[in-house]
Amino acid sequence: MACPTFKLNNGVDIPSIGLGTWQSKPGEVTKAVEYALKEAGYRHIDCAWAYGNEKEVGAGIRASGVPRSEIFITSKLWGTYHRKVEQCLDETLANLGTDYLDLYLIHWPVPLNPNGNDPVFPKLPDGTRDIDWEWKISDTWKQMEAVYKKGKVKAIGVSNFSEKKLEEILPTAEIVPAVNQLEIHLWNPQHKLMDYLKSKGILPQAYSPLGSTNSPLLQDETATEYAQKYGLQTADILLGYLIAKGIVALPKSVTPARIKSNFDGAVRAASKLTKEDIAKLDAVAPGGKQKRFIAPPWVIDLGFDNWP
Ligand code: A2P
Repeated sequence: MACPTFKLNNGVDIPSIGLGTWQSKPGEVTKAVEYALKEAGYRHIDCAWAYGNEKEVGAGIRASGVPRSEIFITSKLWGTYHRKVEQCLDETLANLGTDYLDLYLIHWPVPLNPNGNDPVFPKLPDGTRDIDWEWKISDTWKQMEAVYKKGKVKAIGVSNFSEKKLEEILPTAEIVPAVNQLEIHLWNPQHKLMDYLKSKGILPQAYSPLGSTNSPLLQDETATEYAQKYGLQTADILLGYLIAKGIVALPKSVTPARIKSNFDGAVRAASKLTKEDIAKLDAVAPGGKQKRFIAPPWVIDLGFDNWP
């Protein structure tokens, strides 16, 4: 089954479905990535330095036998590296065993103390996150632009940026972010932010499209009704809904049957859902189901609606 692609604002094509690898254990992710590429048709893998499994993801990519040039690989800059973007990128490239990325994102708009008590989640004595208050994210973006200009990455973007946070980098940006990767799904559709991203030419990507751990969105009645109507699974509707709206879907799974059915089912559902179906699905969260699942205790106000 062929996966539809979207175009980034610099002309690069991106497959609309990618395999998520957050919370995929190092011992499981190699096989999952290999299977996704070799058996299930995926050509897009979403990674991050902070997931702690990039070496194993790289091993899966190599084991698949699919040429590097046919695979779209994304990774993300971690908070403790906002002052040294290229160093984090180089570590990711070495871990993955590749010499370029297709897309590099700022993981969160939150610079963390690079000299704190932990390399990933530095904390203050009171247990709160140790923020690098002196550093501006507009300067992080300048360094992202520099690695792009050097040719080490084919596109640059952000992740977990609200409109407020984007407005902190756009006035001085030479390059508009190609992507904003967010928690987007049926219960957290962020319609207003989607409109804003569209107006700026920034493509949204959806992480946790099934609601993350234990996929709670599979219980949604409206999505399940559409699954029955079209002879598909509820997961297919949840993923196809996003793709039909022009949002890249990044379902995570380490289970071969799910990896395969998510890919095929998403493509099928995206082609079946009508405008009326989409409008009904758009109304689910505003109708009382609004829920965000991923809300780390950053000390900084990220500027999102519905942050718990
Ligand atoms: P597993 O990796 O054990 O297969 P999200 O993509 O929203 O982060 O959701 C990931 C969670 O959903 C994981 O627990 C994953 O389990 C599970 N999952 C992924 N695809 C499916 C599916 N098609 N049906 C049921 N659960 C799924």
